[in-house]
Amino acid sequence: MTLQEKDKKYIWHPFTAYQEEDPLLITSAEGVFLHTHDGRKIIDAISSWWVNLHGHSNPVIAKAIAHQASKLEHVIFAGFTHEPAILLAENLLSILPKNQSKIFLSDDGSTAVEVALKMAIQYWHNQNITNKTRVIAIEGSYHGDTFGSMSVGARDIFITPFNKYLFEVDFIDFPYQEKETEVIDDFKKLVKKGDVGVFIFEPLVQGATGMRIYRAELLDELISIAHQHNVICIADEVFTGFCRTGKYFASDHLNNQPDIIALSKGVTGGILPLGVTSCSEKVEKVFQDSSSSKTFYHGHSYTGNPLACAAANASFSLLTNQDCQDRIHLISSRFINFVASIKKNISVKSVQSLGTILSIEMVTPENTAYQNPLRKEIYNYFLTKNILLRPLGNIIYVVPPYTISNLELDEVLSEIEMFIRSRA
Ligand SMILES: Cc1ncc(COP(=O)(O)O)c(C=O)c1O
Repeated sequence: MTLQEKDKKYIWHPFTAYQEEDPLLITSAEGVFLHTHDGRKIIDAISSWWVNLHGHSNPVIAKAIAHQASKLEHVIFAGFTHEPAILLAENLLSILPKNQSKIFLSDDGSTAVEVALKMAIQYWHNQNITNKTRVIAIEGSYHGDTFGSMSVGARDIFITPFNKYLFEVDFIDFPYQEKETEVIDDFKKLVKKGDVGVFIFEPLVQGATGMRIYRAELLDELISIAHQHNVICIADEVFTGFCRTGKYFASDHLNNQPDIIALSKGVTGGILPLGVTSCSEKVEKVFQDSSSSKTFYHGHSYTGNPLACAAANASFSLLTNQDCQDRIHLISSRFINFVASIKKNISVKSVQSLGTILSIEMVTPENTAYQNPLRKEIYNYFLTKNILLRPLGNIIYVVPPYTISNLELDEVLSEIEMFIRSRA
């Protein structure tokens, strides 16, 4: 059997329908390129599900992991600690919004969100406040695939089998600019009842639903209203963290800061899985009690894995370096120009960019949705051009590693422009 035949026989791939096309066999990767077994070089224009910041097989991160692996590969994180985790917490707190004071480590984006939700719920429990039981989220959100994170996400086709096992959530509409007043009014009505304990959101951009961008001023107002009504605010920055929106965190575009922040994806530069949940002193305080009824009983076998922490510290050094910040700025400017150049094209329904995120909604006879048939067509078309794009239905998006060169980025954008023009 070939490797691909074995893959087909033994492996169940994520987010993949039965008998969807066979996966491409990747043998190595370097910079923005994925190398296939049959000699193709494919530009990873989506940073492999938005995780990669500094290019594949980044030598600085690889070296940090190798060094750490020969020193301390893993240790239980309850009752024990280690330098890479301590350094990481210090590093993250130095760039997180100033109100954040403590770091909790887990495994991935879904668990970072799960931890955030449990922290917020127990925040009320620890104070013997029993009426703050309701949770508000934004319609169309994606927060992950575990039960808590599914509960606060869009109740779409992906979660239909699990719907009746999810907890109840009040969803406010997505704050399109023309709907902002209505959304604020609805939000006020909900929080005025006094029973809302938690508000969770993807700040400024809903990723998986279609890179939908909304205004920072609107979110600022929602957080301000939430705080006036004593509601714990969770920013799910799993996608937006680490400069995706141009600033270190999407929360940096706001005046009002969330109480809890969930991070993952780019935290290790995209090399190893790691989840991070940070919280403010206000949250931390109600857990400062040695009685077991107030302890946060949550953890995973690999919590605080030293290799992941070492990778994250190496990624932090690269990210905070001026060269990387200059690249981020350059990509952001290039996207702004690209938006201006294609927005009048008749096959483009809408086009937006925010920092290093570019999203283009294509006109199709069908509605905008993940199930839109254009998804497969676009995916296959760009693969024949050796560019990996994984459209969300009829929405093409680009989320490149920050190390992408001007030439490589131009290649991706000019291929997209040619595709758009071919449909006009
Ligand atoms: C905003 C957001 N939250 C949570 C998640 C879940 O992260 P993971 O896939 O690492 O579990 C994602 C994944 O795309 C995400 O975009």
